[in-house]
Formats: sequence, structure tokens, C-alpha cells
Amino acid sequence: MGAEISGVDLSRNLDGAELADVRQALLDHCVIFFRDQAMTPEQQLTFARRFGAISIHPYGPSVPGHPEVMRVFKEKDDKVNFGGGWHSDMTFMEKPPLGSILYAIDVPPVGGDTMFANQYLAFDALSPGLKRTVEALNGVHSANAQYGVDGLSEANRHNDQRSMKPKTSDDAKTATVHPVVRTHPETGRKALYVNVGFTQRFEGWTKDESRPLLRWLYEHCAKPEFTCRFVWTKGAAAFWDNRCTQHYALNDYHGHRREMYRVTIEGDRPR
Ligand code: SIN
Repeated sequence: MGAEISGVDLSRNLDGAELADVRQALLDHCVIFFRDQAMTPEQQLTFARRFGAISIHPYGPSVPGHPEVMRVFKEKDDKVNFGGGWHSDMTFMEKPPLGSILYAIDVPPVGGDTMFANQYLAFDALSPGLKRTVEALNGVHSANAQYGVDGLSEANRHNDQRSMKPKTSDDAKTATVHPVVRTHPETGRKALYVNVGFTQRFEGWTKDESRPLLRWLYEHCAKPEFTCRFVWTKGAAAFWDNRCTQHYALNDYHGHRREMYRVTIEGDRPR
């Protein structure tokens, strides 16, 4: 889980062989890291477009002049960060992202790491009985807790404690159904696909009925043995495969600012 790659300059137009190596590393390691990059937003977009079309976050703020680049930031007096809980990106969409490329513009002197959890390992570690049970289930996902006008997530309820204020909308109530276990379209491996940020319940089950098993799965999905943790440095970039990972932005650097540029690549419908 996780590999740091050196000797690649992401601001350059990579040739076919280099690109194939990067793609293979992403498939093999689920999240890959690059240090000491110097990319303009356009160069970050050019690199991302080699993997697919760009997906714009429906609620996140963008970098001025670059609507396809999301600005993820926390100012030194803010208390609430963005992404500060285990989640896969935008699973409330019919076609959630293939992955995201996060590039560090400003990092705190200490803290602000991102954790990643491998959801192939989370599935593989289940008993045969529970595998059979969850493989038969679908999850109902929605953005409402995070981005609904009355959304109940910690971050949404404390929007006044952050400068980065994602938009809220009634549209966030829209529900989307995905399998609880998805098969990765490129590797063919099975991965657990529920997350506390966006999964509300199992299809055909009430929220109350779903809660105990979902809670168990959320805890299981983020077991330390499935994770890696990246310590950011200015100019570092992380590229995660959103189809088989979850991530968590740690919020342990109050008094310092952190700013990242995120570009997200469209994915396909989970199967
Ligand atoms: C995110 O969830 O995309 C933000 C991750 C981070 O800022 O580390």
C-alpha cells in the first residue's frame, strides 16, 4: 500500500512508456507519491488528463482562473479541515472518480499528513461468510451529510470554523446506489466500497438496520494494517486510485496553514 516514486518530473509531458509505468505503479500500489514537483495548475491538469477526463467537484471551491482544480486549504485560525474523515471521493456520483492528484502548495511545519487505506485488503480479510453477505448488498450513497443544507456531518455543522466553505445545496440529497463490493475495472480485484462520508444505508434496508454492519465495516476498512501515511513536503504530489482506497486528511496542525491543489479524474460506474 503506497509507493514513493523518484525521477519523474510531472510538469513534463511524459512519454508513453513513462506513463505506462506510472499507471502500473498506481494499479500495483493504490496510491503513489512524488516529491519536489514544480507544476502549474495547467501542468497538473495536463498530467491528469492522460488518465481520463477531469471531474469537477460539485461543491468544492476552485483555484481562481482554474475551475477544474479544487483548492483544498485550511487557514491558521481555522479549526475544521476538508476531508478530515475516512472516505472515497465523491461516491455520491453515478460515476465516482477514478482517482485524484493532490499537490502540496503550502504545508504546516508538522502534521497535516494524509492516511490511505487499501480496500482490496479490507475485502480480502473478511471471512468467507461475510464476503458472501456483503457481495450480495448494494449501498445507498448521498452527499447530503457533507454538502446538504441541513447536512449532519461534523464538518458541515461547523462550516463557520473553516475558511474553505464548500457549497451546500438541496441537490446533495440525491441518492446513488453502488455495490458494497466492487470489482476494479483494470485489475479485476474485489474491493470494499462503503465509506462513512457518503454511504447512508444498504439498499432495501433502513438506516437503523444498516447502522451496525456499516459501523463494523467502517472500522474494519481503516484497520492500521491496511493503511499507509504520507508526510507531506512542499511540492509533493499524491495520486490515489479512488476505486480501491479510502483516505483521511489529519487535522492536527492548528495555528498553521495548509494548501493543496486537487485535480480529480472521472471514473466509471462501479460494478
Ligand atoms: C481530500 O480528501 O481530498 C483531501 C486530502 C488532504 O487534504 O490530505
